[in-house]
Amino acid sequence: MYVLGIESSCDETAAAVVADGHRVLSNVIASQIAVHRPFGGVVPELASRHHLVNVIPVIRQALTEATQVDELCTGLAALDAVAVTVGPGLVGALMVGLQAAKGICVATGLPIVGVNHLDAHLEAVQAGRGETNPGPTFPHVALLVSGGHTLLLLVRKRGHYELLGSTRDDAAGEAFDKVAKMLGLAYPGGPAISRAARKGDPAAVHFPRALRRRGELDMSFSGLKTAVRLYLEKNGRPRTDAEMADICASVEEAVVDVLVSKLTQAVRSTGVSQLVIAGGVAANKRLRGRVGAFARAEGLRVSMPDAVLCTDNAVMTAVAGTRRFLEEGADSLDLDARARWLPAGRDRGSYR
Ligand code: KG4
Ligand code: ZN
Repeated sequence: MYVLGIESSCDETAAAVVADGHRVLSNVIASQIAVHRPFGGVVPELASRHHLVNVIPVIRQALTEATQVDELCTGLAALDAVAVTVGPGLVGALMVGLQAAKGICVATGLPIVGVNHLDAHLEAVQAGRGETNPGPTFPHVALLVSGGHTLLLLVRKRGHYELLGSTRDDAAGEAFDKVAKMLGLAYPGGPAISRAARKGDPAAVHFPRALRRRGELDMSFSGLKTAVRLYLEKNGRPRTDAEMADICASVEEAVVDVLVSKLTQAVRSTGVSQLVIAGGVAANKRLRGRVGAFARAEGLRVSMPDAVLCTDNAVMTAVAGTRRFLEEGADSLDLDARARWLPAGRDRGSYR
């Protein structure tokens, strides 16, 4: 079964072909980092316009590369469905990928499957699964950390999530991005902080870890932003690479400490033996290292997507779309884009 995935929720135009819900045949990403960098963040209209320019070439390339890997996958004619991100994300950006998918489906008669972007991040871990890599067991606790979301979820079965905790303000990725901007580092901030932190001392500056109470699974990162601002007001911008490295390592440590401590508490309170981390921030080496060490120490299994499948891509869209298509069938062609798609308000419960 061959599914084409299309993703355009933020600043990456991506297309991929995935076979049988886990075998990656192609993964093409046109990044707009250089477009948005001068503005220090994503400019929605520029994102939409660049998706418009890139979407067809990216889809073409994904289909061509898939044929080179699997000769039975001979372009559009060989596909079984088109999976496309419908939200959450920038609506103007989502509409470009969605409209491209609709065009393909109208022209070919292929079924369309709308995919929740968060679902896709969580399902990225299924890509490349096989005999040596069976994928996560259920139930498990998943930590989804991206630029827009920070969620701790109990996943009882694929695609069904129970919200255990979330951030009360900024997402972890957003905190990295905002702090990086204050430090004069280039967008996107997460990778910039992580790179700058490499030679730094994570204990150089003590930045706050909010909501530390035991049993509390919510998180908060806006205080970290304020603490860094106050630090810079008092001490000035870092003057040397070593000083920059120390501040970045300390910021990274503060974020990772909170994430690992909440993940630890979630594991203890649910009694699961399997962990998953996903989303752009899950590409962070320090987080991956700390989660891996925690899992080893506690005898838990941990699954993390490859770092390239943590940040936005269309492989995860195709993977999640394949499952949805098999379980629920196709969507209709009047599918709309959604800016938000999350459990509303503060209530705890299941969502899908
Ligand atoms: O999942 P993603 O690509 O897009 C969203 O759905 O939001 O996540 C992007 C976020 C950005 O905030 C970026 O700074 C952060 O993930 N990020 C990282 C790293 N790579 C990306 N944060 C820390 N360390 C990284 N290596
Ligand atoms: Zn994302």
